[in-house]
Amino acid sequence: MSTRAWRALVLGSLLWAIMGAAHAAAPWWRGAVIYEIYPRSFQDSNGDGVGDLNGITTRLDYLQALGVDAIWITPFYPSPQVDFGYDIADYQAVDPLYGTLTDFDQLVRQAARHHIRVILDMVLNHTSDQHPWFLDAAHSRSAAHHDFYVWSDGKPGPAGKPLPPNNWVSLFGGSAWRYTPAVRQFYYHLFYPQQPDLNWRNPQVEQAMTGAMRFWLDRGVAGFRLDAITALFEDLQLRDAPALGGLNAQGDPILSDVYTSNLPEVHDVMRRLRAMTDSYPGNRVLIGETYVPKTSDLDAWYGGARHDELQLPMDTLVGLGNRLDGATLRRLLYEAQTQLHGSMPLFVFDNHDQVRSWDRFGDGANNALMARLVAVLLLTAQDAALIYQGQEIGQTTATPTRVEQVKDPIGIRGWPKEKGRDGERTPMQWTSGPQAGFSTNPNTWLPVTANFRTVNVSSESADPHSLLNWYRALIALRRTSPALRDGRTVLLEASDANVLSYARVAGGSVVVVALNLSATPRIFAPDLAAAGVSATRLHTLLSSPAGMSASGVAPTITLAPYAAWVAAAR
Ligand code: NOJ
Repeated sequence: MSTRAWRALVLGSLLWAIMGAAHAAAPWWRGAVIYEIYPRSFQDSNGDGVGDLNGITTRLDYLQALGVDAIWITPFYPSPQVDFGYDIADYQAVDPLYGTLTDFDQLVRQAARHHIRVILDMVLNHTSDQHPWFLDAAHSRSAAHHDFYVWSDGKPGPAGKPLPPNNWVSLFGGSAWRYTPAVRQFYYHLFYPQQPDLNWRNPQVEQAMTGAMRFWLDRGVAGFRLDAITALFEDLQLRDAPALGGLNAQGDPILSDVYTSNLPEVHDVMRRLRAMTDSYPGNRVLIGETYVPKTSDLDAWYGGARHDELQLPMDTLVGLGNRLDGATLRRLLYEAQTQLHGSMPLFVFDNHDQVRSWDRFGDGANNALMARLVAVLLLTAQDAALIYQGQEIGQTTATPTRVEQVKDPIGIRGWPKEKGRDGERTPMQWTSGPQAGFSTNPNTWLPVTANFRTVNVSSESADPHSLLNWYRALIALRRTSPALRDGRTVLLEASDANVLSYARVAGGSVVVVALNLSATPRIFAPDLAAAGVSATRLHTLLSSPAGMSASGVAPTITLAPYAAWVAAAR
């Protein structure tokens, strides 16, 4: 090991000893607020129009003041950037676009000084087709790395031309198989053809990827978000996927993923990765990108009652669709309490792949109120909470209007039905100045959204009623209230499907939350005693719109349309 690597290792361990001492009680990630950074779009420090690691470092004061426990940074490794970093060509370096390893070490060090942990994105399912392993694998069947990927001879086709072995389609459009003449075989790619899937049945793949993870753990990272983790294994017999009927936005048949996702073998890998990360001090965390339809399916990703796989597989609240519906939310909260063997859900409303919740749930007239509802839900529920950059200031989705503007290849291929993910990836809006303070370069990689003059960190910081200050207040409350930090959840009144209400209770500390998910005023008069919550009076902690408060000994409150009300019980 080089002196430099040693220094990084010693420094990493030291940081962990300090941070560990500060959080000796429960593992830090239980109930943590994790902030997702899409580095291309967060802060540009060198004027090339693309965000970078040093840019993140300059914004740590902001993140600390917001109150986040950790940042998850999406991939910044060397990459041809076909999928903007999710096509990795070297797992143990930094793409010059984003900076250097020294910048990275500096970021981790400075983040620790701000009491912020750094979580990396680890793409285990596939590499870039420019990764040296794939370049080697694709040139000869006997190459050392050939078996690192998923190959098939295909089926005999007309005129001696082979056909793909089955009907599997890529999530990004077209067949999931690409022919490589040099080896006369097809390789499998769940995403772009430039993202060949790794063969996790080959133990050398696991060994190599574990090595890459250790490289970053040794440098002091707090854990990983595991990309596309449900897709690690494919059916050995490569059976055709059953068709579910209809076509998707890319024009491909909609298929069951029974042979390409959630195969049982993946759980053995998760257990081994967990054992590996647990061998490091400081409660390193494994987060999963786990889009599963049912809460009960998530349980397996924690390792069920054994709790020996991921600490925080994401609950992307798939069941909600595009509607903030009271009954569905109540069910999802109930399931998170009862179907996870006591594990902590990680609720996610926004990320870099999805239309922002501002637009998904907003009806065009009440978006600002809805955004406050989302914040309350996220930050008062018994959960770990994920905030995606810009969510806290109400950044909107700026979907391209012309195909020539699109950067995300799925939007180019799928236009106009699939417009890609550029809309939710536009630069962070810091100020009302040029390029919203994101970059000094007018040619930012994606245009800054037009509303930046009013929707930005600096204007919202100065406005006590802004969404940003609403987030800050909620996070501060979550940190200081024993009920919100460690309390159990008691779901309250179910009689009005338009109102979602619950109490968080830790001993004598009680917080009551009521959300009106409808456009009409609702009366909220919870029978706290019947729910087993001992409290006689409620006093308002936070109210959106401002000014709501309860009256009477048996508290009654009129909730305005789309109101969010948080109260302490006495
Ligand atoms: C999920 C990531 O969030 C997304 O951005 C990426 O395109 C795919 N995985 C493939 O890595």
